[in-house]
Amino acid sequence: EADLESKLPLRGKKILVTAGPTYEPIDPVRFIGNHSTGKMGFDIAKAAADEGAEVILVTGPTHLKMSHSSVKVVNVTSSEEMYHACHEYFADMDTAVAAAAVADYRPKYVAPQKIKKSDSNLTLELEKTKDILSSLGEKKKNQFLIGFALETENEIENAKLKIKKKNLDLIVLNSLNDEGAGFGKPTNKVTFIDKDFNEEPLELKTKEEVAQDIINKIKTHYNV
Ligand code: CTP
Ligand code: CA
Repeated sequence: EADLESKLPLRGKKILVTAGPTYEPIDPVRFIGNHSTGKMGFDIAKAAADEGAEVILVTGPTHLKMSHSSVKVVNVTSSEEMYHACHEYFADMDTAVAAAAVADYRPKYVAPQKIKKSDSNLTLELEKTKDILSSLGEKKKNQFLIGFALETENEIENAKLKIKKKNLDLIVLNSLNDEGAGFGKPTNKVTFIDKDFNEEPLELKTKEEVAQDIINKIKTHYNV
């Protein structure tokens, strides 16, 4: 068995994957979140581990379960926690895939007690969160760095801007344009764009299939 495992293509490779939403606290009982289920990131983690990689899966809150002996799950809640968890592991990684739907903004002040309702409106001041993927791009040495992009207009242009801005090697552009693609749906319409701006549109695929295609890109990068 050890002999079989030693022949797996991603044997010896360490891969960091982010997944799920982040929850940004408002007060002790409330948060700002999003509809990400975490499935894309979990599928990527599983596909990588099935090919022999050692995977660190940093995930926001999700109901999904991961049981694979080669996947270490690091549970986080907020974008700040996800940022620190990613930086704890990144230097030791060969590849990182950012599939998490990280909140772009969070409440500037977290109320220490539950906010009581009053007769007036409530305004929350929001501040920008850290861009985790950009920060990994700045720190990157030899890592193969893969990000996602979700765009609703000028998709290709905006995705290319993200490749440059975040110092990525590959971006997975997720389209909402097609029927059946998006949050909570089983299928995705994606286009791969590499750092040389080569575009590769894929058919409508399940998330498992997209995950395998991403793993295939990683294998191609390492010539395995
Ligand atoms: N990302 C991240 N940290 C953030 C925001 C985004 O790591 N604070 C990552 C996501 O995991 C994804 C990529 O950046 O891999 C792009 O996310 P996306 O929301 O499409 O782009 P943003 O850079 O946040 O820009 P915008 O939402 O304005 O399009
Ligand atoms: Ca965003």
